[in-house]
Amino acid sequence: MNETIVSMKGICKSFPGVKALDHVDFELRSGEVMALLGENGAGKSTLMKVLSGVYQRDEGNLEIFGKEYGDLTPKLAQEVGVAIIHQELNMCKHLSVAENMFLGREKRRGIRLDNASMEAEAKSILDELKIDLDPKQVVGELPVSKQQMVEIAKALSTNARVLIMDEPTSALTAREIDDLFRIIKELKSKGCGIVYISHRLEELQHIVDRVTIMRDGQYITSMDFQGVPLDEIIAHMVGREIKEKFPRVSCKKGKKVFEIKGLNAGRMVRDINFSLYEGEIVGFAGLMGAGRTETTRAIFGVDPKEEGTIILDGKTVTIKNPRDAIQAGIVLAPEDRKKDGLCTKLSIRHNIALPNLDFLCNKLGVIQWGKEAETCAKAVQDLRIKTPNVEINAANLSGGNQQKVVVGKWLARNSRVVIFDEPTRGIDVAAKVEIYHLMNELKKQGIAVMFVSSEMPEVMGIADRIIVMCDGRITGELMAEDATQEKILSLATQFEKKIAI
Ligand SMILES: Nc1ncnc2c1ncn2[C@@H]1O[C@H](COP(=O)(O)OP(=O)(O)OP(=O)(O)O)[C@@H](O)[C@H]1O
Ligand SMILES: [Mg+2]
Repeated sequence: MNETIVSMKGICKSFPGVKALDHVDFELRSGEVMALLGENGAGKSTLMKVLSGVYQRDEGNLEIFGKEYGDLTPKLAQEVGVAIIHQELNMCKHLSVAENMFLGREKRRGIRLDNASMEAEAKSILDELKIDLDPKQVVGELPVSKQQMVEIAKALSTNARVLIMDEPTSALTAREIDDLFRIIKELKSKGCGIVYISHRLEELQHIVDRVTIMRDGQYITSMDFQGVPLDEIIAHMVGREIKEKFPRVSCKKGKKVFEIKGLNAGRMVRDINFSLYEGEIVGFAGLMGAGRTETTRAIFGVDPKEEGTIILDGKTVTIKNPRDAIQAGIVLAPEDRKKDGLCTKLSIRHNIALPNLDFLCNKLGVIQWGKEAETCAKAVQDLRIKTPNVEINAANLSGGNQQKVVVGKWLARNSRVVIFDEPTRGIDVAAKVEIYHLMNELKKQGIAVMFVSSEMPEVMGIADRIIVMCDGRITGELMAEDATQEKILSLATQFEKKIAI
């Protein structure tokens, strides 16, 4: 046990304009969970893509189970026993759960696909993982958290001995995370080596044995996790100390900016009433699936409303689609950035310019290049988006930097209400603080900020007032100074408890 199963030495990888990996060393032993940590764009995903054959390295040595691999392809890596769960979901949305799990290694009977046996095997893997899913279901119809679980089941179904999990929990509910940790512990006891990438540092203590820290494409250090204070790990990641994890500014509560009355939209948005005032950030807490995202979508005009009144600065506004919302001054940074927040095939410049063409164009409808360049440069600078230039496709940015572009495109506008849905998901510690500063800045300018987050410490640390939702309804409201995790959780599980009793 505990022999070295992966050894990477002096790994280099460049992309046009970026040295993503600069002589990185990495080692994984059997039966351990190794956390790979670093800021957004540090090179974590790239290093793991080299290990799983997705990218070819430019330089360096790579040994898996004591054997050197020159050119590693994804197929070869899979045969050797390396499986990767990618950070951004990689499912074929029109295929079923079972078809996705057996993609590229389909079972056959003669010349035909043996769907029955694939479905049966998929079912037994899902059952073992206690994932309640029908193998025949089309993946695109599932919520993100379930798709993530399919991705995990798929990796496990290959009998991997080296399992790479790149941000596996970013879209999971608390119960699913518990299940995942149970699975990780089982795999560990079977001698698998697991690489675990996460920006949720507080969850590491449950599973991690060692950590490797990267910064700016370079290897910084590795060490045993137990006994090392989190602040020390953060300092290695960021290269400096972060004093205030939740910076708070106090503003005088001003006049009412925004009011929602009797909003109903589908099963997950039932009789929603709330107001937002100048000078405050209102957090929306709750468990995943509480209806918060659906509420933001109904307000923004993505989903149709059955009834409800939206009042902005004292006037009733009609919002039938996102364009109406944007023109009224209500903007949304959505939860699923890849699907709803970005055009990944377009450059950063285009992504930022697109929703702002109304003021970037002159009277003839021609884009004013100077103004566009200035707007983009400001977003890149204010949010410290890590990129060589704004012509890079959004798809090629690291996950966290993609999120910054989603937020960045709204900064340029003079909005009255900014809705953030899980804005810090997949974002590193330092960038989280930048997003909080940004929300504080909006708050100081008298803009109403609605902040949906499933991470209780950040809601409690940043919001002035917290509204809790459960099963499509608002179950309570707390002022930040009175809020505790217990109180929030109790409101967030109000209906579950009633059913249990
Ligand atoms: N296919 C690509 N083309 C161009 N540049 C890329 C590509 N993939 C990654 N990069 C760049 O390489 C650097 C490292 O990116 P990587 O995705 O490995 O970071 P990361 O540590 O996983 O960050 P995050 O925590 O945000 O996921 C970034 O600057 C990124 O923009
Ligand atoms: Mg990454």
